[in-house]
Amino acid sequence: MAFRARHLLGIEHLTPEDIRTVLDLADRYVDLNRRTVKRTDALAGMTQINMFFENSTRTQASFELAGKRLGADVMNMAVAQSSVKKGETLIDTALTLNAMHPDLLVVRHPNSGAVNLLAEKVNCAVLNAGDGKHEHPTQALLDALTIRRAKGRIQRLTVAICGDIAHSRVARSNLLLLGKMENRVRLIGPPTLMPAGVAEFGCEVFDDMRAGLDGADVVMMLRLQKERMDGGFIPSEREYFHRYGLDAEKLAFAKPDAIVMHPGPMNRGVEIDGTIADDINRSVIQEQVEMGVAVRMACMDLLAQNLRADRGRQATEGTYV
Ligand code: NCD
Repeated sequence: MAFRARHLLGIEHLTPEDIRTVLDLADRYVDLNRRTVKRTDALAGMTQINMFFENSTRTQASFELAGKRLGADVMNMAVAQSSVKKGETLIDTALTLNAMHPDLLVVRHPNSGAVNLLAEKVNCAVLNAGDGKHEHPTQALLDALTIRRAKGRIQRLTVAICGDIAHSRVARSNLLLLGKMENRVRLIGPPTLMPAGVAEFGCEVFDDMRAGLDGADVVMMLRLQKERMDGGFIPSEREYFHRYGLDAEKLAFAKPDAIVMHPGPMNRGVEIDGTIADDINRSVIQEQVEMGVAVRMACMDLLAQNLRADRGRQATEGTYV
């Protein structure tokens, strides 16, 4: 059976079959979420703790709603007011929470690799909600679901990922997922925002929007991650918009039915023109948010099933404490 993972730490560890399993289940949760009564009991009796060490609006809200709709008890740890501010290490915080017997831990952290480290210390399922510049697996999965529903498939598409690639965990997770599903990926951005060695991922690299967008089925824009920049990566936001901001003129180089995506939060007038973002015939940005809740429900449901099976096995063997 697909998706036997204990944690969801990155796309790196998933097979194409795992990805399809998540997307198929998420499709069913999209239907549920459109009903008036949006409740199942897949996580009934389970405890979910959300620990966000970095600001987040949509991802945290999305995980919280997902857990509640699955019937879990959901707790958002106010990290800003927590003992982390008093100097407690990440591991001590994790061990303290672990002693409260959560079943699912959703973690966002500014350092790449922090979530993997934490997963080694706890005995519940850990979901990576974004770690530094490393991975953001549920974002890539929700993007894949959005693309599959808009285009009817998630294979053999030309996907252009544009902008601040170097600082983006969204780009990294998407690159891994789209590659596993046999799509053609193009990365477009200024050389200062392109990570070294990116061609190893088997994608094409462009520094000109028109050339990179030519014939694309999907145009994925990224936010300029100013909080991760410590120097002058771009001459000015005005100049950046002129060269790399998505407007009608540049979008015209993509296929006439190309869809426009953005993970949010958007900097209108910096990486994307507001009228394109709001154009319901091209932009699927609101669909991405909708798919986010469904994908997170699917991931947590699958991890909870694995957790139950593991604990059942350990109970039989007498090793579950
Ligand atoms: C992304 C993130 O946090 O990595 N946003 C999100 O999850 N919705 C992208 C970003 O912050 O630009």
